[in-house]
Amino acid sequence: MNYRHAFHAGNFADVVKHLALIAGLGHLRRKEAGFAVVDTHGGRGAYDLAATEAARTGEAAEGIGRLTDVKGGPAALTTYRELAGGAVYPGSPLIAAKLLRPQDRLVAVEMHPEDAAALRQTLRPYAKARVEEGDGYKRLVALVPPPERRGLILIDPPYEAPDEFRFAAQAVAAAYRRFATGIYLVWFPIKSASEANSFCGEVLACGAAKVLRIDVEKRGVAEGKLAAAGLAVINPPWQFDDEMRAALDIVLPCLDCLARFDWLAGKD
Ligand SMILES: C[S@@+](CC[C@H](N)C(=O)[O-])C[C@H]1O[C@@H](n2cnc3c(N)ncnc32)[C@H](O)[C@@H]1O
Repeated sequence: MNYRHAFHAGNFADVVKHLALIAGLGHLRRKEAGFAVVDTHGGRGAYDLAATEAARTGEAAEGIGRLTDVKGGPAALTTYRELAGGAVYPGSPLIAAKLLRPQDRLVAVEMHPEDAAALRQTLRPYAKARVEEGDGYKRLVALVPPPERRGLILIDPPYEAPDEFRFAAQAVAAAYRRFATGIYLVWFPIKSASEANSFCGEVLACGAAKVLRIDVEKRGVAEGKLAAAGLAVINPPWQFDDEMRAALDIVLPCLDCLARFDWLAGKD
């Protein structure tokens, strides 16, 4: 477990992933009934963009740092700008915690003891947010279906282990069998097109009727650094793709990125 998200927080891939998270939660918040969020790989929850980690890679400067003049756009983008506009960049569990209503709740799992402790500290003010230190894949199966029967699952592993793609796809399949109506956001790096395609094929094999894939590629990235990433969205809510397209139309030119939307199954 060498991966530390502090080096990458607020980069172009985080921007897109966190916009998608906010768009998904925005949909769930439209109905009065409560929902659950499970964040299987939570990280620390908050990242000081002036700290040495962020400064060393410069990834945040090339990501969220390029969005300072962005205004307007769809609700997901304005909410993202409000939440991520400061010197401390919010990770996915903090974003989710800030968007919970009293009837909603969050379980964020983090395996690294230090990061789990930091996450616990970050989420302390949020009564409806709980941190579990452990293996997010194993915990996910135990946490679904949520009693609320409405929810969003974020699966955002570091992909440092060679078999992480397999673990992630297996976790999706196991969770989907138990909770087929949930919204799932599954993040993946794209280092090779064939690896990413076969991963999406495995995700699709869970049997979901609606799966949207969003790939984002950043131009001019130094060799050896992540230049492309994808999100497989299972059960994207109604008009989720329109909202993401509208947000990305504004954001991607600032980030020097291109996106591609593919319906792997179904369509609105
Ligand atoms: C990409 S980061 C998560 C970033 C976070 N989701 C966000 O958007 O702010 C991946 C995190 O997963 C943690 N991790 C690695 N293996 C794990 C596992 N099996 N279960 C839970 N957490 C794990 C790492 O320590 C790291 O903090």
